[in-house]
Amino acid sequence: MVAYATAMAPKIGRIGILTGGGDCPGINAVIRAITKTAIYKYGLRVFGIEDGFLGLLESRIVELTSLHVSGILTRGGTILGTDNRTDPRRYYDGLDDNGEPIFRDVTDRCLAAIEKFKLDAILVIGGDGTMACAAPLVSAGIAIVGIPKTIDNDVEGTDITFGFLTAVETATDALDRLHSTADSHHRVMVCEVMGRNAGWIALHSGLASGADVIMIPEIPFDLDRICAFVESRTHRRRGFSIVSCAEGAHPVGGEQVIADIDPTRPEAIRLGGVGVEVATAIATRTGIETRTTVLGYVQRSGTPNAADRVLATQFGYHATELLMSGATGRMVVMRGGQLSDTDMRSVAGKQRLVSLDDPLIGAARAVRTCFGDTA
Ligand code: F6P
Repeated sequence: MVAYATAMAPKIGRIGILTGGGDCPGINAVIRAITKTAIYKYGLRVFGIEDGFLGLLESRIVELTSLHVSGILTRGGTILGTDNRTDPRRYYDGLDDNGEPIFRDVTDRCLAAIEKFKLDAILVIGGDGTMACAAPLVSAGIAIVGIPKTIDNDVEGTDITFGFLTAVETATDALDRLHSTADSHHRVMVCEVMGRNAGWIALHSGLASGADVIMIPEIPFDLDRICAFVESRTHRRRGFSIVSCAEGAHPVGGEQVIADIDPTRPEAIRLGGVGVEVATAIATRTGIETRTTVLGYVQRSGTPNAADRVLATQFGYHATELLMSGATGRMVVMRGGQLSDTDMRSVAGKQRLVSLDDPLIGAARAVRTCFGDTA
């Protein structure tokens, strides 16, 4: 559903592309789809904004031709560079005399760069944080269309984000491989995967690899239950257990494990470390040898799989069409297998978590997967 009447569509001749937040497989496929559609179908001039909002406020903007985007469909990362520390509404500008951080609203610097490069519109590729950062530009009258991106699959309003399926494939491959060493040594192998506060990667890769235990933030775990479960497996016919553990998993009534907090962005907490904590606790309580593998950034690196290339190309094309129809403040989404769009403001600052009645949870429980809860 396009938000604004096409009759009101402003004349668009020059567009910018910005990638914000953490990278993920498929961003270059989106950049390619936008650039080619804009140049070949609409005869537009396309400009790449380097390193997200930081590059925008520093006016680091370069023209993209079809040559720049040729051959990038399969490349991981983003050719434009990205940055997940800069929020123009709250730009870190050093320390004051008392050593306290100074934050300034530098939206005007972004608007000045847009003016300088005569950009009529910007396509913003990012997650919930990037959509929130883009909101003041929409309010200032800039035509903006968003494209949801993240391996975490946690963007509100869309059933899927590109990058997710590649991350699930990487995590599944790792969990598959861990089976042989777990089996040989009769160990418990805990594999910590990414996902922030959402358990999508742990759930999908756990189900795909037949993990014995899946730990997700949406279902707080009870260590006694997990220990009893892996002990029963060790003492019965199977001498090993595989645990797919989301980085955001936490015990009932307990906290998530924090890896670090950026002092310039105290709200941006980086999760990590629960895998080691859980493994230590299992080993101590059960006496079973337990090891941890933290998959980390390999999940969001490298070439996108075929499904992500297709999704990213569809998103890039659809976003360009949306922009050319006069829409602004909208984000492209995939719902029930259909491409559509939603209000960017309804997405900003929200996270789509795994619902407790998700059919995948029912399927996992049916094949005796333990979630560490009482159900
Ligand atoms: O949002 C994607 C993600 O990979 C999360 O799963 C992870 O917690 C986070 O980014 C870490 O990102 P960075 O180290 O870039 O802040």
